[in-house]
Amino acid sequence: MYHPGMNILAIETSCDETACAIVRDGREVLANVIASQADIHAETGGVVPEVAAREHILKILPVIEEAFEKAGKKFTWEDVDAIAVTKGPGLISSLIIGTETASVISYLKDKPLIPVHHVMGHIYANFLSSASEVSTKSTNLQPDPQFPLIVLTVSGGHNELVLMKDHGDLTILGETRDDAAGEAFDKVSRVLGLGYPGGPKIAKAAEGGNAEAFKLPRSFLESGSLDFSFSGLKTAVITKVKEYLREQGVDISVGNVQELANKLPQKFKNDLAASFQEAVVDVLSEKLLQALITYREDGIDIKELHLAGGVSANLRLRETVIHKLQKLGNSIGGPVKFRYPTNISYCTDNAAMIGSAAYYLYKANPKSFKKATNLTPTTSFDLF
Ligand code: KG4
Ligand code: ZN
Repeated sequence: MYHPGMNILAIETSCDETACAIVRDGREVLANVIASQADIHAETGGVVPEVAAREHILKILPVIEEAFEKAGKKFTWEDVDAIAVTKGPGLISSLIIGTETASVISYLKDKPLIPVHHVMGHIYANFLSSASEVSTKSTNLQPDPQFPLIVLTVSGGHNELVLMKDHGDLTILGETRDDAAGEAFDKVSRVLGLGYPGGPKIAKAAEGGNAEAFKLPRSFLESGSLDFSFSGLKTAVITKVKEYLREQGVDISVGNVQELANKLPQKFKNDLAASFQEAVVDVLSEKLLQALITYREDGIDIKELHLAGGVSANLRLRETVIHKLQKLGNSIGGPVKFRYPTNISYCTDNAAMIGSAAYYLYKANPKSFKKATNLTPTTSFDLF
């Protein structure tokens, strides 16, 4: 036994990434391995569950082996104190590969098994420090996040605004009523023929586009609501595409989505991508800041704002939040720290975030986590 602290080996297979990480004391990433299936699913423009599950089966053991290699030669199973795994929500056939693998390891190696909610994992991405990813001793960890904090977690499958007063003390302030922001990015990207996954493709196209070229709706819902809705915006983009094609005399009932998208000029795509991205970013940043202002006004001294989930990789979103915070200045009664995952791979699905969340779950109640018996994956989005 060489490695101090509590080392958790975490597995995440909820969608199309086969991931294994080793995380020490909830914050220090000793290894973070991700086998992405993005190229495979790019061919179909989205994830085919059966294909994803088969890929997980092929990748899961190599990914675990690689995590050990990354953690260092002297790191062995003896150094692993517990096994963590995403229990859901996600694609059920993908989840099963992860939960079964984790259960078998837990049973054979006689280590406690810690099931983790996927969204809880994303929330903990900001507790990770990437600074010591290749080292085996604690150095350069960023300061611990300070409570209370508000985290906006935005992904392809979920979209939540959460008040976190402490570990285990979380309140959902708002969530999406229809599409998640990442889902809207993916669908719009498909209609524009930009590829999968949509977020990075739209962001790239938007760099060359004019965000004011198209007037697109921003749904803020009822006054004071911290919920989200992106389906109206998505429909508006699709309508713009159809209108353009009709004006060009294209029969939109003939041909598939990609063939129709191929008829759109690059400038049109770039401008529409930029206008769409700006609308999403506007709503997300506004709701995050609205939550901060509301809770500060109510006397809750929010110390930090966090962005998490795949969409938190979006640079325009990050810079807009910073810009809006700067504009608010002292009017919010004191500084607030803004964090987003220090490493882009902690934004999208990864196992390091699962290892972090698992550590704090375990610390709160060590006796409740035992060597595996039965672990049934869940598709429920309920955090508690
Ligand atoms: O968290 P994640 O990996 O998976 C889910 O839990 O859903 O998020 C994936 C989502 C996809 O919808 C993808 O298009 C989006 O995150 N995404 C982005 C960016 N990178 C990934 N959205 C906007 N801008 C990006 N740079
Ligand atoms: Zn996710």
